[in-house]
Amino acid sequence: MRVTISEIKAMKQRKEKIPMLTAYDYTTAKIVDEVGVPLILVGDSLGMVMLGYDSTIPVTMDEMIHHTKAVVRGANKALVVGDMPFMTYHINVSDALYNAGRFIQEGGAQAVKLEGGEVVAETVKRLIDCGIPVMGHIGLTPQSVYQLSGYKVQGQTAETAKRLLEDAQILQQAGAFSVVLECVPAALSKLITKKLSIPTIGIGAGPDCDGQVQVINDMLGLYSDFVPKHAKRYVKLADSIKKAVTDYVTEVKTRSFPTMKQSYTMDESILSGMITGTGTTTTVSKVKKPRGK
Ligand code: KIV
Repeated sequence: MRVTISEIKAMKQRKEKIPMLTAYDYTTAKIVDEVGVPLILVGDSLGMVMLGYDSTIPVTMDEMIHHTKAVVRGANKALVVGDMPFMTYHINVSDALYNAGRFIQEGGAQAVKLEGGEVVAETVKRLIDCGIPVMGHIGLTPQSVYQLSGYKVQGQTAETAKRLLEDAQILQQAGAFSVVLECVPAALSKLITKKLSIPTIGIGAGPDCDGQVQVINDMLGLYSDFVPKHAKRYVKLADSIKKAVTDYVTEVKTRSFPTMKQSYTMDESILSGMITGTGTTTTVSKVKKPRGK
């Protein structure tokens, strides 16, 4: 059974912390799902960590749908949230509805996330009225990187802190089932978390949010172009991969890979017949277990 919106909300009521991770492909989603992570975000961060763009701004709906489908195929239990890319929900509510609908109908996600507070409240309300659960996202909103003049902590002045609290409350009022707080001072996140009845999911927002989200490529030590302060590396997979690739290259060059263990056999007499020219048919032995069968 897949995790529901009510279950995520109930976790806050039970004071049970909510771990969330991004995933962008089938294999990773399957691993994350098997561990029991209740929320998977197909973040538009995929533009940077999977596609090599220098921000999330170039990410398109088609790219998001492609990756969302793969994640949904891998995750049977987690609630999958699709991240709406830049300008796919700002121009008008019809656009937002159409694009959010694609995440649910084509991508197979169970919810969408969009960035912004009051400015997107009307859209959030309309999506929810049409049956599409919405996760909000305030604080550092990477799609506004130019307007924010860079990836910076938000809400450190009296005015911006007040604005963030109001935005969080407006999103709750509009019907969002949770809200991401990105790069928000820990004390402010604690206050927002206390004031809201819906869960807050923090990234660089301190320990008192109801849940935490991390970009999986950061926490696995896979992405090194830019390592944010709030990312914790639980493993250095890039180093492990480099070592494995180096070993492979050495073994191919020194002819120690492959051995017969990774090779297939055939009836010797057929081969002799081919060599002497007496064979009539060629029968290659069957692959023992083809991938995916
Ligand atoms: O795109 C993303 O991965 C996100 C998270 C950082 C919350 O929006």
